[in-house]
Amino acid sequence: MALWKILLLLWLIYALAYNLALIRRPLRSKKKSPPSRGWGNRTHVLIIGATGGTGFELVRQALERGHQVTAFVRSAAGLKIQNENLRVVRGDIMNYPQLEAAMQGQSVVLSALGHRRFYMPTTILSQGTANIMRAMRACRVPRLIVVSSLGVGATVGRLGLPATFLFVPLVLPFYFWDRVRQEKLIEENKDIDWIVVRPSILRDGPARGNYRHGFNVGNYIMPRKISRADVADFMLAQLNDDLYVGRAPGVCD
Ligand SMILES: NC(=O)c1ccc[n+]([C@@H]2O[C@H](COP(=O)([O-])OP(=O)(O)OC[C@H]3O[C@@H](n4cnc5c(N)ncnc54)[C@H](OP(=O)(O)O)[C@@H]3O)[C@@H](O)[C@H]2O)c1
Repeated sequence: MALWKILLLLWLIYALAYNLALIRRPLRSKKKSPPSRGWGNRTHVLIIGATGGTGFELVRQALERGHQVTAFVRSAAGLKIQNENLRVVRGDIMNYPQLEAAMQGQSVVLSALGHRRFYMPTTILSQGTANIMRAMRACRVPRLIVVSSLGVGATVGRLGLPATFLFVPLVLPFYFWDRVRQEKLIEENKDIDWIVVRPSILRDGPARGNYRHGFNVGNYIMPRKISRADVADFMLAQLNDDLYVGRAPGVCD
């Protein structure tokens, strides 16, 4: 057999095996939703990853909605927004004391944590989220809303064929492996209301407002997109809504 055929076969077997591994045991929905926290629009919101694309949109839209926002950032220079309701706290997600200090007095945590360490094993998502939940317990913060991604658990394949067979197994295998660990940690916690938001491929640009959400979004063949602004809009809508508590809805255009 020609070498290219052998390589193609090996790659196909690897991509299939990797995607099967990503499915593992999918997140299980909690049976009963807790009563809505009903904070109104003066919620104290801690935003993780506030200097990133989605995080910036979370900060901007949370302030627009009248919330008291704390942005947890590694560098304050990365957050080009000023507002009397915005407090910027410098820290690293891997540094627990810094995180706990930022957590004091919050009502909810929104995390848009991400990174670019694609080609090496990392625990930034899982260990960072473990730190977030530990600080939430210590400070009695009851609700966590986290950006994850389509393409893990029960949504394997829904990022479209190119991502499923090329991008994820070849460029992001370590990233997605840590993503699965992150989701598992969230699912296993018993005392925090959590919502895991799984977007399709992200794009910049304005919110459209007519995105779809639920458990059957995305596409197995063609990649679907959603703007970071719409993901932020959906996450902020979850502050007072219990529909998806203990569940992992997908979102896409
Ligand atoms: N790109 C896609 O198509 C796609 C699709 C589905 C899901 N997602 C997921 O959606 C999420 C948001 O994506 P995005 O592109 O909007 O994010 P992003 O621009 O990559 O921003 C990531 C944020 O995480 C922060 N961060 C990284 N390491 C940190 C640390 N150790 N301590 C504190 N903060 C840290 C970054 O801070 P610095 O500015 O200091 O680095 C940045 O603010 C990510 O989890 C991503 O995987 C992406």
